[in-house]
Amino acid sequence: MTLQIESFQEYKKVYKESVEKPEKFWAAQARTFTWMKKWDKVLEWNFKKPDIKWFIGGKLNITENCLDRHLKSRGKQTALIWEPNDPSRPYQSYTYQELYEEVCRFANALKSNGIKKGDRVCFYMPMVPELAIGILACARIGAIHSVVFAGFSANALADRIKDASCKMVVCSDYNSRGAKNIPVKEIVDEALNQGCKSVETVIVHKNTGGAVKMKKNRDKWWHDVLKGQKKECKPAKMDSEDILFILYTSGSTGTPKGVVHTCGGYMVYTCFTFKNVFQYKKGDVYWCTADIGWITGHSYIVYGPLLAGATTIMFEGVPTYPDPGRFWHVCEKHRVNQFYTAPTAIRALMAQGDQWPGHYDLSSIKVLGSVGEPINSEAWHWYDEKIGKGKSPIVDTWWQTETGGILISPLPGLHKLKPCYAQLPMPGIQPCLVDAEGKEIKKKEAEGLLCIKFPWPSMIRTTYGDHERCRQVYFSTFENLYFTGDGARRDKDGHYRIIGRVDDVINVSGHRIGTAEVENAINEHAQVIESAVVGFPHDIKGQGIYAYIITDGPVADKEVFKKEVNAVVTEVIGPIAKPDRIQIVAGLPKTRSGKIMRRILRKVAAGEADQIGDVSTLLNPEVVDSLKEGQKEAL
Ligand code: PRX
Repeated sequence: MTLQIESFQEYKKVYKESVEKPEKFWAAQARTFTWMKKWDKVLEWNFKKPDIKWFIGGKLNITENCLDRHLKSRGKQTALIWEPNDPSRPYQSYTYQELYEEVCRFANALKSNGIKKGDRVCFYMPMVPELAIGILACARIGAIHSVVFAGFSANALADRIKDASCKMVVCSDYNSRGAKNIPVKEIVDEALNQGCKSVETVIVHKNTGGAVKMKKNRDKWWHDVLKGQKKECKPAKMDSEDILFILYTSGSTGTPKGVVHTCGGYMVYTCFTFKNVFQYKKGDVYWCTADIGWITGHSYIVYGPLLAGATTIMFEGVPTYPDPGRFWHVCEKHRVNQFYTAPTAIRALMAQGDQWPGHYDLSSIKVLGSVGEPINSEAWHWYDEKIGKGKSPIVDTWWQTETGGILISPLPGLHKLKPCYAQLPMPGIQPCLVDAEGKEIKKKEAEGLLCIKFPWPSMIRTTYGDHERCRQVYFSTFENLYFTGDGARRDKDGHYRIIGRVDDVINVSGHRIGTAEVENAINEHAQVIESAVVGFPHDIKGQGIYAYIITDGPVADKEVFKKEVNAVVTEVIGPIAKPDRIQIVAGLPKTRSGKIMRRILRKVAAGEADQIGDVSTLLNPEVVDSLKEGQKEAL
């Protein structure tokens, strides 16, 4: 098993070793896994191209490490607990042996349906065990999974299927989320009608049992393809640098990009960080409330915990259904020891009152985690007092889809906590702050742009089908550095506090949304001439979406217009990208070269127009006053 650090002294020692001799450090971690062939060389890297390779020449299968190697020691231990949306339904659990068999059966079914090593399989599913089983089955046979969050629209799904040329889509009939019943299969059909020519087969898992249309020769039921499949499936021999999965994420410009993670490094890093950040001990029950549609679910519901031989919970529902006590009820029911969620959920539950956690026995909780966005002080303290009862350290974990695993985080019980700080880098991680010119700020106490100087095993390798884009977005801003897109502050002890994105990405309820994507969607409305989208502070979501829209004439009914804009955005992207506020404007502040001055738009949206400062360099300074006026009446 990978190293588990047990004291702050040890952390300091290990950290020092890991940056002085990174290859030696990571080789020692990698050696604790099962390899079909050992690597020849630990690392080759070049941030210019970029070209990053870990455990070169090594052969492995991640599922052999998630499943097979635990069978002897933990075959009967629960690997996965599934808690359904409806609390009156029984939960399900799978031992390591059972999960192994289910994964092998579905892996064989994939093979019988023409899926081979290297083929891409898209998953568009709710949080049901079959999603975890499905992606592990892909990994078992060397197929590449691309999970698309089931809240995305048919359009967004189609774009992602086409970008990765997926050969198969795996979905459910319906998705029950809270009181809603979402017709998942129907959305898949709509997506596939948009020219997804690569898709040969659709496998449909019967979740609610509601009626669906099945297309002949294309659509098959999950339970049918499993019939007669063997419970054994030889794991495919994968190269360390073969692709494990693609996961789409939003950036400042253009369409979402497919972040590529590879087998060897991702395995080593997610297991190592899982064990250390959550201080997971044998027998603990760990729960991460994320959705597998996002990186948190990939790394810290499925891969990290299973690699570490943990018991991991998967939750189908939402925090407020059937009531705002649901999370705490689940914690009590399964005696959860590590609980990992997003600040937006904490704020939403905090707003419902202290009585909800008060009804439940939360004494099993040892570690609390936060991820996805900066956690504000009020939420941090509520989480600490009402959930952790002041005795469970909070790990504010900072990382990204591109980083594959947690890069900066406190180690619970080992560090003295500093509220709202992600604190210290994990072993092997070399963060730095740079100024706008890319010059490293050496002074300890400083604020700047967060970059990483040295590769780590689970870092992004490329953006699928477009390597140049990967180079441009992450490696071209500053020479020889990976640029995160985040701003951060560092205190005198070297602890980091993440401030937020410095690019045109908004973090809404912990979900990354590109402003350009939302603008493109809004512009689809027939009456819209131009739009500009910015983030603004939002009590629950962290950031909300604020859209400035120029229309082709007066808007007769503004409420109807808002509904129409929301409908268009929901159709193009999904409901998560709906603007919270819309301001109809006559013009947008532009520089003489025609660039929208977003700084001004952000200030107006935040109600901080008094801080705008000099606008004389604008092409049209007169619009600023009308923007300020209009903000008060924004829809
Ligand atoms: O801005 C940072 C924010 O989320 C971004 C990454 O989003 P995504 O790729 O969707 O991954 C989210 C889950 C890992 C980052 O660039 N972010 C993530 N964690 C934190 C955070 N901001 C502040 N504090 C965090 N702990």
